[in-house]
Amino acid sequence: MTVPHALHERIFVALDTADLAQAQRLVAATRGLVGGYKLGKEFFTAHGPQGVRQAVGAAPLFLDLKFHDIPNTVAGAVRAARALSPRFMTLHASGGPAMMQAAADAAAAGGADRTRLLAVSVLTSLDDRDLGAMGQHGPVEMQVARLAKLAADCGMDGAVCSPLEVVTLRGLLPEAFALMVPGVRPTWAASGDQKRVMTPADALALGASYLVIGRPITAAEDPAKAAGRIVDQLTDLGAP
Ligand code: C5P
Repeated sequence: MTVPHALHERIFVALDTADLAQAQRLVAATRGLVGGYKLGKEFFTAHGPQGVRQAVGAAPLFLDLKFHDIPNTVAGAVRAARALSPRFMTLHASGGPAMMQAAADAAAAGGADRTRLLAVSVLTSLDDRDLGAMGQHGPVEMQVARLAKLAADCGMDGAVCSPLEVVTLRGLLPEAFALMVPGVRPTWAASGDQKRVMTPADALALGASYLVIGRPITAAEDPAKAAGRIVDQLTDLGAP
C-alpha cells in the first residue's frame, strides 16, 4: 500500500466524542492540515452513518468499529460501510482467518479506491495474565506478532499497533503492510492516560505509516495551531 509523501496526510485525528457539533468544530478547524479523521464506536453508536458524514464531510475517514463476528456478518458490514467510503476500517484479527478473508473479499469489490482494512491484534488494555485467562498464549508481544502476521497472510492491508511494536512488526511484515499507530505524543503535549508514548517523528522514523493523534490536537486551545505545530516538527526533523 502506498503511503502518502505529504507528512500531514499521515495524521488521522481521533475524534473521541459523541458530540456531533464538537466533532464538526474540530474538523472545521483542522481540515486540510491533517490527513483525515478517526471516528469510533462512541460516535457511530450515537449518530450512525449519516452523522459520520455530517461530522467529517468529504475528508478521509478512518472508521474504527473493530468488527469481530462470523465471516458472513463481517463481510456484510464491510459492504454496508461502502456507502461511507471509509479510507480505513478496523477488525479484530482474533476473529480468525475466515473472517479476515471474507472481509478482504468484501473490501476488494470496492475497486481501486477501496477501503483498506486494518487488523487490531491485542488490545493495549490486556496484559499477559488476561491472555492466560482467555486461553491465549502470551506474552502479549508474541501474540501481537502472531496475529499481525496472520492478518497480513489473510489479506489485511495493515494493523493498528503501539509505537513500541513498530520495529518488531516492520521486521516481520511486508513493506506494503500499513502500520497505523496511536499513542504518540509531541514533546510539548501531556501524555494523559497513555503510558507508553513516543513522539510522532520517532514513530514515523521507526516505520509507522500513519499516526492517530487525539488529545494533543483535540484538547488543545487552538487545534489548528497544534496540528500545524506537529506537522512542522515532522518536517523540520525530515521524518520519512
Ligand atoms: O487522545 P489520544 O491521542 O490518546 O487518542 C488516541 C486514539 O487512539 C484514541 O482514539 C484511542 O482510543 C486510540 N487507541 C489508543 N491505543 C490503542 C488503540 C487505539 O490510544 N492501543
